[in-house]
Amino acid sequence: MKYSFGLAALAAACVLADEDACTCHTIEDVEAPVISPSTVTSSTANTTNVFAPAPAPGVDTHDIASVVPQTQVSLHYGSNLTTSATVNVTHTMKYPTVVLEQIASIVSVDCSSTSVAMTFNNSDVFDTTQAAWIADGTMVFITNHLGDCDPVLERGFFLSNSLSFNNSTLIATASSMKANVSSTAATTEITFGNIPTSDLAKRTSTITWDPSYSLTPAISLPADTTLYSYPPYLTVTADTASFASNFTFSGYLKYDWLALSLEDLYFDIDIGFSAALELTAEVAASYNQTFTYAPSSLFYDFTVPGILTIGPELIFAVDAEVYASAQTTLTTGVEVDLADGIVHVDLLHESNTNTSGWTPTYSANANISGMAEAQINPTAKLTVEIEISIFGGLIDLSTGLTAKPGFTNDFILTGNAGVDLTGYEDLTNNSTCANGLAIDSEFVFDLSAFATEWYSTDLYSVDVPILKKCFEFTK
Ligand SMILES: *[C@@H]1O[C@H](CO)[C@@H](O)[C@H](O)[C@H]1NC(C)=O
Ligand SMILES: *[C@@H]1O[C@H](CO)[C@@H](O)[C@H](O)[C@H]1NC(C)=O
Ligand SMILES: *[C@@H]1O[C@H](CO)[C@@H](O)[C@H](O)[C@H]1NC(C)=O
Ligand SMILES: *[C@@H]1O[C@H](CO)[C@@H](O)[C@H](O)[C@H]1NC(C)=O
Ligand SMILES: *[C@@H]1O[C@H](CO)[C@@H](O)[C@H](O)[C@H]1NC(C)=O
Ligand SMILES: *[C@@H]1O[C@H](CO)[C@@H](O)[C@H](O)[C@H]1NC(C)=O
Ligand SMILES: *[C@@H]1O[C@H](CO)[C@@H](O)[C@H](O)[C@H]1NC(C)=O
Ligand SMILES: *[C@@H]1O[C@H](CO)[C@@H](O)[C@H](O)[C@H]1NC(C)=O
Ligand SMILES: *[C@@H]1O[C@H](CO)[C@@H](O)[C@H](O)[C@H]1NC(C)=O
Ligand SMILES: *[C@@H]1O[C@H](CO)[C@@H](O)[C@H](O)[C@H]1NC(C)=O
Ligand SMILES: *[C@@H]1O[C@H](CO)[C@@H](O)[C@H](O)[C@H]1NC(C)=O
Ligand SMILES: *[C@@H]1O[C@H](CO)[C@@H](O)[C@H](O)[C@H]1NC(C)=O
Repeated sequence: MKYSFGLAALAAACVLADEDACTCHTIEDVEAPVISPSTVTSSTANTTNVFAPAPAPGVDTHDIASVVPQTQVSLHYGSNLTTSATVNVTHTMKYPTVVLEQIASIVSVDCSSTSVAMTFNNSDVFDTTQAAWIADGTMVFITNHLGDCDPVLERGFFLSNSLSFNNSTLIATASSMKANVSSTAATTEITFGNIPTSDLAKRTSTITWDPSYSLTPAISLPADTTLYSYPPYLTVTADTASFASNFTFSGYLKYDWLALSLEDLYFDIDIGFSAALELTAEVAASYNQTFTYAPSSLFYDFTVPGILTIGPELIFAVDAEVYASAQTTLTTGVEVDLADGIVHVDLLHESNTNTSGWTPTYSANANISGMAEAQINPTAKLTVEIEISIFGGLIDLSTGLTAKPGFTNDFILTGNAGVDLTGYEDLTNNSTCANGLAIDSEFVFDLSAFATEWYSTDLYSVDVPILKKCFEFTK
């Protein structure tokens, strides 16, 4: 079974309101070269974060009630690296179940292929247990690294069909066999992070998303990194390029072991993204190219051994469409901040997929020298891809989010085609642009969500004119 969904943002190449004044060339998707450089400065390295069995918060292990078998059990997992993030796995069991780690009086557990022997240190608890447990029926015991019962960092499941109690040694022995989640549970729910769901309206930037799983990677390219070079036509240099991101996610999954089907699966992703880019494109002759520069991937493993592996991957990239009709130097500077992007992606119920925030703040400038009709449309892209594998590969999921704010800059020279604009500053505004330089600059940002197998939907789109002017030659 493979599920995947993603969020992709697309930058429109060019939108012009006043088509009489200027011509607009739409640059379509081309088979763009993808360049991977060798040097990148990164504040964060690939990390692995292991979530091990942890005590359930708020459970009093001395409470005599914890010996009573239950059909719903919640098991917790915590990380020694990320104290704010927890994983809560709740099983609705087919049989009455006891979580041995929740009984303080059980001081040791010894397992074999046919038995689980539990030693108590308190005869009152032992007597109560003897009355509560089902001596001649089916029960499930869940162990947690007490003795030889389960792999390191995992819990063990044992299916018992009879029990014996030794009043002098205070040992209860189950005649049992090793089992697992799929053979003992009816449904399993996994919650990671605790962001309240279907609660998007209440969210504001002041809410603390705790506990949840957060990453704050940042990378920057060395100054004057050549992003793309296609001699002799085009060289694109990043005078500066830096990216930073805040990324927090949580999610929920419900699996039905009887029907072998996924009942529910959603993610809540909060993201902050900032990018500063300054690009120079040197075009030596009429040229038109789209390229992608993918400087870095950062992988983060979030592992609950035996249960769940989530591998967020953060990919930063720069795209640019460059077109010029003649020899030209184009520069553009872009700063974008997305402070509070929130997405709720429901894989099974498209109508619950929702987004809020994503309000960008930005500034941009562009400059041309040369004699040309030209475009430079840079986009700074952050892709968050989440790979999730559950129950040792029973469910494999790949999911993503791409935030791709872009700027389009069209420069169109009209009239005196021979005028060299280098250093030309004495320009006046003129909407007809019969004899001058038209600049049309926009901020474009689209966000769409898709669950590959099921749906694709547009979530968010903004298209803001920044500068739309005709500078007329007055010299
Ligand atoms: C640039 O190339 C693309 C794809 O090859 C084409 O669709 C587009 O029209 C070209 N742009 C200009 C301004 O020629
Ligand atoms: C992280 O791991 C991936 C795959 O193993 C590798 O391509 C990438 O360069 C690594 N990044 C860092 C910063 O170590
Ligand atoms: C966290 O736990 C893992 C696995 O038990 C261990 O290898 C690692 O050293 C621990 N890290 C810290 C910082 O305690
Ligand atoms: C764990 O999940 C179960 C079921 O969703 C819930 O009843 C329980 O309160 C949760 N526990 C914690 C500590 O979040
Ligand atoms: C039994 O063991 C638990 C956990 O080690 C301890 O808290 C408790 O005091 C012990 N009880 C007796 C009667 O020794
Ligand atoms: C209880 O355990 C002791 C010590 O192993 C053993 O001698 C005795 O026979 C056991 N009693 C029962 C009823 O099995
Ligand atoms: C062990 O103790 C329980 C509770 O006191 C009692 O019901 C049971 O009969 C005893 N078993 C034996 C073999 O004495
Ligand atoms: C779980 O247990 C059942 C019954 O013993 C077995 O058929 C199945 O292969 C086990 N699954 C895993 C993942 O170990
Ligand atoms: C999406 O969120 C907005 C507020 O952020 C809310 O008004 C709207 O009802 C939500 N839509 C759905 C389908 O939950
Ligand atoms: C990340 O969050 C911190 C603290 O809220 C904030 O100072 C920083 O500007 C954020 N960075 C981005 C890229 O959103
Ligand atoms: C535009 O580019 C020219 C030539 O490189 C330079 O002299 C001028 O200062 C630039 N203008 C701005 C506003 O960056
Ligand atoms: C704008 O251009 C038109 C046509 O070239 C000209 O008639 C008009 O005077 C110009 N306006 C300004 C403010 O320069």
